[in-house]
Amino acid sequence: MRTSYHRLGAALLLAAAAGLTACGADRHMAPFEPDTTRHEPAADTTPLRVYGDARGRWIGAATGTMLTMPGDSGALLRRIAAREFSMLWTGTFMKFDFLRPSRSTYNYAQADSVVAFAQRNGMVVRGHTLVWHQQIPAWVTSGGYPPDTLAAILRDHIEQVMAHFRGKLVAWDVVNEAMGDDATLRPTLWLDALGPDYIAQAFRWARAADPDVPLYYNDYNIETANAKSDAVYRMLADLKARGVPIDGIGFQFHYQADAAPTADEIASNFARFAALGLKIQITEADMHVRVQNGVASAADLQVQATAYRNLVTACLRTPACNAIEIEGIYDGQAWVPDPANWGAPVLFDIHVQPKPAYYAVKAALATP
Ligand code: XIL
Repeated sequence: MRTSYHRLGAALLLAAAAGLTACGADRHMAPFEPDTTRHEPAADTTPLRVYGDARGRWIGAATGTMLTMPGDSGALLRRIAAREFSMLWTGTFMKFDFLRPSRSTYNYAQADSVVAFAQRNGMVVRGHTLVWHQQIPAWVTSGGYPPDTLAAILRDHIEQVMAHFRGKLVAWDVVNEAMGDDATLRPTLWLDALGPDYIAQAFRWARAADPDVPLYYNDYNIETANAKSDAVYRMLADLKARGVPIDGIGFQFHYQADAAPTADEIASNFARFAALGLKIQITEADMHVRVQNGVASAADLQVQATAYRNLVTACLRTPACNAIEIEGIYDGQAWVPDPANWGAPVLFDIHVQPKPAYYAVKAALATP
């Protein structure tokens, strides 16, 4: 598959050839004409990140375990990551349980190597995530701490971790998935201990810890107008009105490709958040399709390509949207909620070959 850019190039070549034939230059053109496929230019090899740069958008992906993967596979993934993407995030290595094996010990090695890899390759990094209801270490959840100690632990976590990464990240997901699917605040350890204002508190502590890094609220199932996104909108409008330091919102974009939203649905929802003065990032996009033994049908891969094209188009239509980040680099390593039945969610297949979705993202980025 080729981008529209190259389709245009091919069309121009063919039109030129046809014109020359009509002018009587057919003898020169004849050897080339019968097999029109020979007029097709080579597939577009320009990396995604170059197209992203041209549109002022970071194109990101989760590292998975590529940095420590041995052999040719690891080398190939690292090459593709550095070549195609301008932003990285780690689904695991910056989470509370991973960074904090105990109250007094810190485990920054893997996260630091993500940052170092990004810096070596001219990429930026999103921080994910400081306050979440999952992946809280057992020493916190089972410590029997009273509420004020839990508040102190959370504050200390935010301060220590943000100090460590200060100056190295372009976004921090300060609070992740605080809204429940029923459009009320999700019951969490933090809600129990600190009350509903834990969200505002977390952003204030974060801003005090690092005055410069953009602070994000990140969630899923809020990409279009619905009860949950309405509730998140009200929550963020309230935080903004109270002067709570929040700079942006991350939309995770976990979808079944056949149920993914249109560009209009996404863009109109983005617009109301942008009107609050928030930056917008697509943070964990995956468009999963039905798989049998890990294999998706060609038809479903086209549906998936359309779904990806729509989210890129919506971001491009939203001046506040500055990043399009994907759940993983390749289908061999990308989180999906129901891997037995749904999978193949990202832009490169299990052989690290570009899929229709890859070309669709590129074509959307190339479309003025
Ligand atoms: C997932 C990671 O990708 C996995 O590696 C980890 O084991 C579980 O969490 N929403 C989020 C992400 O905000 O942090 C989750 O990531 C996927 C859902």
